[in-house]
Amino acid sequence: MSDQLLRLYPEPNLALEHKGRYLTDPLADDTHAGPFIYSNFVTSLDGRIALAEGADAGRAVPRAIANPRDWRLFQELAGRAELLITSGRYLRDLSAGTAQDVLPVSTAPEFDDIHEWRRGRGMAAQPDVLVLSTSLDFPPPRRLAEQGRRILVLTTTAADPHRRREHEAVGAEVIACHGDADGVLGDSVRALIADQGFSTVYSVTGPDVLATLTRGGALDALFLTTVPRILAGRDFSTITRGAPLEPAMDLSLTSLYLDTAGQARAGQTFARYDRRRDTGEA
Ligand SMILES: NC(=O)c1ccc[n+]([C@@H]2O[C@H](COP(=O)([O-])OP(=O)(O)OC[C@H]3O[C@@H](n4cnc5c(N)ncnc54)[C@H](OP(=O)(O)O)[C@@H]3O)[C@@H](O)[C@H]2O)c1
Repeated sequence: MSDQLLRLYPEPNLALEHKGRYLTDPLADDTHAGPFIYSNFVTSLDGRIALAEGADAGRAVPRAIANPRDWRLFQELAGRAELLITSGRYLRDLSAGTAQDVLPVSTAPEFDDIHEWRRGRGMAAQPDVLVLSTSLDFPPPRRLAEQGRRILVLTTTAADPHRRREHEAVGAEVIACHGDADGVLGDSVRALIADQGFSTVYSVTGPDVLATLTRGGALDALFLTTVPRILAGRDFSTITRGAPLEPAMDLSLTSLYLDTAGQARAGQTFARYDRRRDTGEA
């Protein structure tokens, strides 16, 4: 299998190593102030990031698009992060044994170089974790606490005080703020992250959290892997949902790589888009 990617943008036709790609490309430029918050999705051509697979299953990343080359870059993005944003839903899946993985960075041997990369920069072994949850209805995250990670749980002032105490008992720091019908507001998420001094923050969650971040002006970059397959399916998610953004959020293409390795997924692309701060017109 070729370990190269073809860069299509900005300099076209440049062959570069796949492994290490997202450890090497600059994350935030020197002019960026405050935390740099980024997210990542793998999608089919018809926009499916999650599908109901099986009679009683919830939605999951479709097997037809999940692939090791994308997973490698997902792990590299986690390697760059001081903090991961996750969700109550993810922690429920983790405790039920149906989550994709313990929150990265994976300890599988093929990702040793990412841990080495972090050590070389004096970073903690694992990123800290910010859980967004309105319900607080997930088992207290003992496993994460045992890894020595800081666990921040951001919820609304309406949250159940009993559940708050259960999470605090395992060392989680529960912070309640005013929200709306969708829960915590995106600007509260950014404010908390900035107050706590985190500089690189990776959201590994799905459409609701992305909606929260975009609505609150709290998303700086989106990494999007597109697998050239059409999946269809009635019960699916796209990268975001909720009320329309008024005005729409504008992003610019920062980089685009073509992955020619593999058969079924030949031609998948790895794109990165950065938020534009200079527009807002229709
Ligand atoms: N293809 C991909 O790359 C990709 C990437 C990520 C996720 N996914 C898929 O997308 C699906 C959904 O993922 P997800 O549940 O992690 O993501 P999500 O839809 O962003 O998050 C859902 C949960 O996050 C909490 N939440 C969201 N916004 C909140 C807010 N503003 N305030 C407080 N809490 C908030 C809620 O937790 P509570 O219910 O506890 O209140 C909610 O249940 C899954 O099937 C996952 O596999 C796919």
